[in-house]
Amino acid sequence: MKELTSIKTVRLNTEKDALIILDQTRLPGNEVYLTLHTKEEIGEAIIHLKVRGAPAIGITGAYGLYICARRIQATGFDAFYEEFTEIKNYLLHTRPTAVNLGSALRKMDHVVLSNREEPVEEIKGLLYEEAEAIHAEDVLACHKIGEYGLTLLTPGMGILTHCNAGHLAVSEYGTALAPVYLGTEKGYNFHVFADETRPLLQGARLTAYELQRAGVDVTLICDSVAATVMQKGLVQAVLVGCDRVASNGDVANKVGTSALAVLANYYNIPFYVLGPSSTMDRQCPDGSAIIIEERKPEEVTELWYKERMAPKEVKVFNPAFDITPHSLITAIITNQGIHYPPYQFVAD
Ligand code: MRU
Repeated sequence: MKELTSIKTVRLNTEKDALIILDQTRLPGNEVYLTLHTKEEIGEAIIHLKVRGAPAIGITGAYGLYICARRIQATGFDAFYEEFTEIKNYLLHTRPTAVNLGSALRKMDHVVLSNREEPVEEIKGLLYEEAEAIHAEDVLACHKIGEYGLTLLTPGMGILTHCNAGHLAVSEYGTALAPVYLGTEKGYNFHVFADETRPLLQGARLTAYELQRAGVDVTLICDSVAATVMQKGLVQAVLVGCDRVASNGDVANKVGTSALAVLANYYNIPFYVLGPSSTMDRQCPDGSAIIIEERKPEEVTELWYKERMAPKEVKVFNPAFDITPHSLITAIITNQGIHYPPYQFVAD
């Protein structure tokens, strides 16, 4: 596991005035780290998926807001808060679907507002502490998800996963892949099938890369091969991550997830969704209320190809996520435990 955990997806530099991220668009070929200073650089990195995965963009938002807030010159609270809010709103609108970005930014905002009587320099220190806490909370959550998730798995299982909900998408270990790593440490010898995950290939570029690096047996498949491996009896569980879970258990995750849930249901294979409790959107009644990010057509027609692979001006529909209805989900595993239907994630 050291081979994997030596990779730090998001961190602050030693001076704590810049964000260092692993550029995930350069994987698997190149392990390149980027140093980001401004809100524009951070926003661009999130929009272009240089850093991605719901928990990782939450952590990026928190650290990013801290390093930008630290440079605000204003010493009076009102002027400071005006600039702070402008940066926060800019980062908030970079990606709409994952709940973690918004909730991390809201936590940072709360720190500022509840300390408005304190000197601005003091508030900046508290923002640093909050960002560190959000990061540390995610590390703990991922380990807990791993422990709960592993109780549902047995040695030698074939596991299908989609997109990347592993170490690269979080602070450490992953969500859907956390039980896989924990099991691997205990000698479970899982056989993982990684969907390549069109159009951005997170499964091929990231999941296959990190599982291989951690010494897990991984086989890469085209998305359309999922039914075949299920039909052949090679898969005993599907493990996927989540970007937002509605209070009724409907799940937004990388596009293609809901097709897998339908298949798993047909072949009678357990379909598990894994994510930190911070990904449960308790204000959201059901999947129809979740905003689905739509991305550029070029991701489908050109990106990753040597030349364009679709007729010019063809219409393209490129949603980045889809909604899996709660009725197709066997269980939702969070850091707080294993939740079975009927799901009810309500406000505390
Ligand atoms: O568009 P991406 O690559 O950010 O999408 C990521 C996913 O859909 C993951 O499954 C999800 O964020 C869970 S990450 C632990």
